[in-house]
Amino acid sequence: MIQRCIGCGSTYPLKQIIYTCTACGQVLEIALADADLANSRFSGRGVWRYEPWLPADAKDAATLMEGDTGLYPCDRLAREVGIKRLFIKNEGDNPTGSFKDRGMTVGVTWAAALGARAVACASTGNTSASMAAYAARRGLEAIVLIPDGKVAMGKLAQAVVHGARVVQIEGNFDDAMRLVQELSLGEGSIYLLNSINPFRLEGQKTLAFEVYEALNAVPDAVVLPMGNAGNISAIWKGFGELHRAGLIQNRPRMMGVQAAGAAPIVATIKSGTDTCKLDNPETIATAIRIGAPVNWRKAVAAVKDSGGEAGIVTDDEILAAQRDLARLEGIFVEPASAAPIAYLRKRNWHDVETVVCVTTGHGLKDPDAVLKTAPKLARSAPTLDGLRTALGAA
Ligand code: F0G
Repeated sequence: MIQRCIGCGSTYPLKQIIYTCTACGQVLEIALADADLANSRFSGRGVWRYEPWLPADAKDAATLMEGDTGLYPCDRLAREVGIKRLFIKNEGDNPTGSFKDRGMTVGVTWAAALGARAVACASTGNTSASMAAYAARRGLEAIVLIPDGKVAMGKLAQAVVHGARVVQIEGNFDDAMRLVQELSLGEGSIYLLNSINPFRLEGQKTLAFEVYEALNAVPDAVVLPMGNAGNISAIWKGFGELHRAGLIQNRPRMMGVQAAGAAPIVATIKSGTDTCKLDNPETIATAIRIGAPVNWRKAVAAVKDSGGEAGIVTDDEILAAQRDLARLEGIFVEPASAAPIAYLRKRNWHDVETVVCVTTGHGLKDPDAVLKTAPKLARSAPTLDGLRTALGAA
């Protein structure tokens, strides 16, 4: 395995600490050799089951038993939206409640192998919650930059309880992202664990392997939210490796969904321009409130190369989808994760049979988003009559 630039193809040794290509400035990926892919004797559980295709050693893993999340058949929702077979891959089942744990187990393990003293990230919340937990597990210091006032309470509580040094940046996520890159480039002992880091994405690609093994087939489409766009890139890479290894013949269409007020990747795909930037992104789905996604080129390639698409949903559609999923299927997800659910209603699925929708984070991360729009709770005196009256109103 080596690190390779996605733009000019320049290569770098695995152990070199580098986040973008010195020749052309684009982001890197971990390139597996055919010899790596020839070994598909996977054993064990969770993310580390796929060790032969990961860049770090399972025996050294900083792990909280991440991965092996549920793949839930959702027949009631499928009927409502007109999909033949719909599954939800619920990443809220992970130990810190989001898909980030898949990446952090590999990223933090790698940071320790490199001898880093501290790990750092800019975050809309989940990355910091996950990084803080895995850093604690491995005894590394965690440095977290968050956008001022725009991180859901549950996520902030996680970063704090795990002992991260949290700094609120007077700006948005994109400002925090720029700063954390400057900080880690200046100091070799601080290892950057945003999704610009290709080692983290190696952990996240394992979602593709789990879906393939659980279905014993490849879905026609994978629908998921896009923010910094690491996850869509990672999952597409995972299916690509299954394909290169000869384990699958087809790959799914990748369908990335953004919130209407924060949809720079959708705009780039529509316009075909070679830039991706939106000033002042805004959405209730704070996890994906991002205007300058670092992995936009990878995401555009995933959508285009897979024959997929990128779509937009409004905040109202997101909140309605969050309620629908909770009431129809018993699965509670945070607003960003409800974005792909909302997208299921936006399209006619006659050309697609099996859809996997990735819900990226647990609903308890951000209870405010639900309670803000919930009707007032009924109250009762502690009497049966009072209770009956109150139940009539509830
Ligand atoms: N869903 C949730 C719940 C997220 O927290 C994020 C990203 C995404 C989707 C988008 O994933 O960036 O790989 O396209 N959250 C990051 C964070 C940015 O800091 O927690 P992506």
